[in-house]
Amino acid sequence: MFDSVVAPMTVTDFFKEYFRNKPVVIKGADNKFSDVMNWKLLSDILNQSAIWSPHSLNLYSNTRAISADQFSYPSLTREGNEGRLINFDQVAEHVKNGASLVLNDIETLNPGLKSVAHAIESTFVGKVQANLYCSRSENQALPVHFDTHDVFAFQVEGSKQWRVYGTSVQKPINHHFFKSIDQSFHEANKGELSIDEELTSGDFIYIPRGFYHEAMCHSESTVHVSYSCVPIIGIDLLTAFFDVAVKDELFRDAIPNPDEKSGKKLEEHITRLVGRMRNNVLSPEFQEPFKEALNNYKFDRFSVKLPDDFV
Ligand SMILES: [Fe+2]
Repeated sequence: MFDSVVAPMTVTDFFKEYFRNKPVVIKGADNKFSDVMNWKLLSDILNQSAIWSPHSLNLYSNTRAISADQFSYPSLTREGNEGRLINFDQVAEHVKNGASLVLNDIETLNPGLKSVAHAIESTFVGKVQANLYCSRSENQALPVHFDTHDVFAFQVEGSKQWRVYGTSVQKPINHHFFKSIDQSFHEANKGELSIDEELTSGDFIYIPRGFYHEAMCHSESTVHVSYSCVPIIGIDLLTAFFDVAVKDELFRDAIPNPDEKSGKKLEEHITRLVGRMRNNVLSPEFQEPFKEALNNYKFDRFSVKLPDDFV
């Protein structure tokens, strides 16, 4: 199904030229993504009012988050916990006044959103989630930034100006080290402008992780859905090895005292640890389950068809 997202480009060309390499815009007919999201589908999911909380629904005004107490009220949640639910009258007022509405983790909320998540997941192997951004007037939800995941964004209503710059941080991940970088660093290091294009309904943009970007609303009303895709990385291999090391006496043993005169014992011990790790990671006993985990690296999204499934 991903072939229909990148058409008229082929999936082969997408892999060869752009995937994890460089950003690209693919223009499409107005209605290309209308079964994924449109005003009616957006109203439908928002009207399931009890599923929304300040965790899943946020508002931004000129790149700053609006405090949740300005659009939500204390209530029991669907799970029966003390929490907050959304006051949609206040949300509408904020959006009318120029705020951007951001919905998190919406990839299962209608069949179109779900099928795109599945298409990205099965094509690229990674964990996929979707957020939605909606604005009614000139506004920028987020300042220039890079993401720690690949971005597949679908313009579904109105238009938005996208600017994509270079990358100064290679392969960033979701870790404090990258998340705590100051905005002034981003502004100073965003690099050369490589894409400056108005995306209209039916257009698609792909941005590999690490590339700086910003999106600005120009039209009266605009909606885009952005999917993130997080792959298994080298650090995940270390995490998988941790479970193996726990069962190995050598890794549970104390490290020799580094103050010992020659330091030889410490050096020998570390050499033994590294050798044991190498042998272990290269063994079929480690590799087979790791490959299996790679193939199954996606979120479980169940699908129910009634009444057949209940008969
Ligand atoms: Fe982003």
